[in-house]
Amino acid sequence: MPRIVIKLSGSYINPVQPPSAIESFARVIKEVLSMGFQAGVVVGGGPTARSYISSARALGASQALCDHLGILSSRMNAFLLISSLGEAAYPVPPTSIEEALQAAASGKVVVMGGLQPGQSTNAVAAVLAELISAETLINVTTVDGVYSEDPKKVPTAKLYKKLSYSQFAEILSIRREEAGKYDLFDTVALNVVSRSKILVRIISGEPPENIIRVLRGEDIGTLISPT
Ligand code: UTP
Repeated sequence: MPRIVIKLSGSYINPVQPPSAIESFARVIKEVLSMGFQAGVVVGGGPTARSYISSARALGASQALCDHLGILSSRMNAFLLISSLGEAAYPVPPTSIEEALQAAASGKVVVMGGLQPGQSTNAVAAVLAELISAETLINVTTVDGVYSEDPKKVPTAKLYKKLSYSQFAEILSIRREEAGKYDLFDTVALNVVSRSKILVRIISGEPPENIIRVLRGEDIGTLISPT
């Protein structure tokens, strides 16, 4: 059975979104299952995480505590997706590697949030991909791929169709990583996908059906691979 991990930006799965928007992602995930894939899903913290982190930071909380609030937020968002998936999903977001393994053994869709401070949910998605031997990690975000510059600021910015891990690392040129401010991908996520040669496909979640297009073999977004 082909295996994939889908990382959903917390911008799509949060309590401010209309329930129908979250249901659209749940429908797509069920379609992925009916196509014969085993899928693991990781949900980001989105605006929930950012609002807790900025409040806690202003109150003097440590980086680790701010990260922890991001983790809790991503787990609450994961519960929203689990609610919409119903019986198809394992009922609780695993909080450790051991729980993730147990959840995966149930045969249900594992939906996770964060795991530990010092990384983003992209690192969780990369580790989950290793755990379930997924070949591809689909990163469903709010941009339609990796650009040479910020396309919102530079209209001539170029969309990269394909990048190697090292080209991707160079473009990100990760300098400072802190609670609520990890880039499109973080250092841990990069290291994990490159050591296990997990393909990464970065796409927009608008519409959610883009996930199906990727699994049907369409070349959308940016593909990140060993070479
Ligand atoms: P993310 O940054 O992954 O979610 O987690 P997001 O903001 O929704 O990002 P996108 O849109 O999915 O890319 C929110 C915060 O939770 C903490 C970090 O502080 C992160 O910025 N976090 C998350 C951790 O500390 N460890 C984790 O394993 C996951």
